[in-house]
Parts: sequence; structure tokens; C-alpha cells
Amino acid sequence: MLDVNEIKKDFPMFRKHQNMIYLDNSATTFKPDAVISALNRYYEEASVNIERGDYLLSHEVSNDYEDARLSIAKFINAKRKEEIVFTSGATDSLNMIAYGLMDQLQEGDVILLNYAEHASNILCWFDVARKKKCQIAYIELTMDGEVCLDKLKAKLDEYGSRVKIVSMAYVSNVLGFKQDITKIAAMVHEYQALLVVDGAQSVPHMKTDVQLLDIDFLAFSGHKMCGPTGIGVLYGKFDLLDRLKPLRYGGGANARFDIEGNVLLQTTPHKFEAGTPNIAGALGLAAAVRYLSDIGMDNIEEYEKELKKYMVEKLQELPNIKIYNPHTTSGIVAFNADGVFAQDAGSYLNTRNICVRSGNHCAKILHNLIGTDQTCRASLYFYNTKADIDAFVNACAELNIENCINIFF
Ligand code: ALA
Repeated sequence: MLDVNEIKKDFPMFRKHQNMIYLDNSATTFKPDAVISALNRYYEEASVNIERGDYLLSHEVSNDYEDARLSIAKFINAKRKEEIVFTSGATDSLNMIAYGLMDQLQEGDVILLNYAEHASNILCWFDVARKKKCQIAYIELTMDGEVCLDKLKAKLDEYGSRVKIVSMAYVSNVLGFKQDITKIAAMVHEYQALLVVDGAQSVPHMKTDVQLLDIDFLAFSGHKMCGPTGIGVLYGKFDLLDRLKPLRYGGGANARFDIEGNVLLQTTPHKFEAGTPNIAGALGLAAAVRYLSDIGMDNIEEYEKELKKYMVEKLQELPNIKIYNPHTTSGIVAFNADGVFAQDAGSYLNTRNICVRSGNHCAKILHNLIGTDQTCRASLYFYNTKADIDAFVNACAELNIENCINIFF
């Protein structure tokens, strides 16, 4: 069991906003002192560039940056640190994967997606499919957002060797279903297709073992796991990553070039990190990974599961609340109050000092599954408590048209 009262002391946001009930952790998370110190240490004590300077401090920070890469590799159990590319976030990573694979696609190839995906795991594939005359097809989901394995198998059988890529979130950002990635990977690989996983909502909340899961490419963001904004990770199995075409070219990513246009790129992963990288971000993310590892990812997952169960049970007692994903185990609850527009509900909860997100959450085709594109979303992290949930549920009991209209007058 986590000592959340002690944990909360690590977060300046809780010291500053003592009465705030923060339930928007799928959007971003608070940063502990350890992460902020790592950023400050870089900016105050070692603010030099890496891989370029012929002086001791530059060598030291270059080593710290590579150590950060190693920490991330260990955190997700990558085989080697060269399988880790620092990016600006999950969106950047997914774009790098989609456009990086483009040259390997041919007219008629099929990319399998699903309706629950975030825009960042849809739009880049739409564009790549348009450019390469590929076909996008959707795998059916249950109402909870679970990929139906028999329907996936049927799609793989239907399209056969034309299926080149299957891309999905491990945990979707609205319904929060945790997919059975190990089984999905086995099915996808049977058809020699690649499995791309958006880990933005999973890596922060549970242990991730890319070897065990047999994921080909994984994308995630630092800021959703107590790390800084503007830093993320692209993981790829080394041979696959090495074959990916870089999206950006520039300093640090090339070994040499000449006036004829001959270019020799650096080796993987450096060929993907053109320009001065987000050094502070990488060091901050490594600090976040240390912080989360000290708490224990299994402890975090267990604790959030218990909180989610408690939240669903309490909300289910309210006749005015409809929950869209009561059976999913991640700490995300998507709901609406009878007759209340989701954004009005969010604004009402704000008057009670409760932070949630409402709207379509960038999952703009999910309405094809759940019948609405407007929901409120309460998303938990390990620093939330049952007391937060009690206050939230009490406020949800007050969600009706009259109360929500009154806040605007
Ligand atoms: N992708 C983030 C969310 O789901 C921003 O809120």
C-alpha cells in the first residue's frame, strides 16, 4: 500500500494548491521535486551542449544524457539503449514511426487501426496511407474498448499479407481499456506485420516489458509520467528502428556530407536526433523514471486499480451519472451526467476545485463506438486518494442542468 500522504509532499503543486483535486492525469501529471531538481541542476550547473564541446563539462553532460537513455531502456526492459530515441513526446514518436515506415509501404498495403485511437495515432497513418495509396481498416472493439481478438484474426485473414502495420494504444485515453498486447503481438507477427503501440496512457501506470510484450515500436511521453513536457520516447526493436527513415536531418545526426549531396548518417539512435536535443528533458525524464521505480510500477498499478474500482462503485450509486467504461481496469473513468453537456459538467466540477477534462479528448472517431463525442473524463494517478474520489463523487451528485447553468450567472 502506498503512503500517499508522504508521496504528496514530494510535489510542489500539492504544496501550492492544497485544496485542488486533480483528476486530469491522462492529460498531464504533476512533477516531483526530484524531477524539478534534475532540470534545475542542468540549467544552473551544467547548461552546456552535448556531443560537440571539447571540454570536460560537455563530456560529463553527454555521459549523463546517454545514462538517461540507458535508464529509459532499463525501465521498459529494452535489449539495449540504442533502441531508445528521445523525441518531443508520444505524438512526435508516432509521426516518426509512421513517416519513417512510409518507404517500406506499397500501394494496396493495409494499416489496421481502431475507433478508440487518439488523433496522434490516426492522423499520421491517414496521411501516410493517402500518400502511398494504402488502405486503412478498423479492428472492431467491444463497448469497453477491448480489441476483439477474433475480429482482429478475421481482419488479418481477410487482408493476409497486405496487412503491414497494426497500430493501437496499449491503454486508450478515453475508455482506458488495457489491451492484451502479448496475444495481439503474436497474432500480428504470424502475418509478418508490425505492431506499433501507443504507450502514452500505459507506460506511466504499469510495468512495461517490451521484450515480453514483443512490441515492435512503442511511443510514450515524459509529461504523463511525472517528467517534463517536451520530452518523449520512441522505442523500436533495433533492426526495425535501424531501417526506419529519419524525419529530420541536421547537426548531430550525420557523420559527414559533401557538396555532391552524399550524406552519411550517424548510427541509430543518433541519426534520429538531429539538432540540439532536449537535454534537460531527457535528464528530467530519467529522474522521473527513478522516482516511479522507487515507488514501484506494480504498486502504482495495483493502487490505481483499487482507486478506480472505488470510484466506479461510488459513481454507480448516483442515478444521474452514466459511466462508459465501468469494466476497464486503468484509472480512467469516462462519464456523463443526465442532460448536462460534458463541458458544463467540467466547469461545474471546477467550481468545486476538481479538475477533469471534457470533450472528445482528441479521440474524434470514438463516437462511432460509444454514441457520443462528448464525455467528462476523470483520470487517476498514484497520488490521488479515496478522499479525492469522495469529494469528486459528492460534486458529481450535484450535476444537473440547473446547477450547471447557475454557474454562468
Ligand atoms: N493526450 C492527452 C489526453 O488524453 C492530452 O488528454
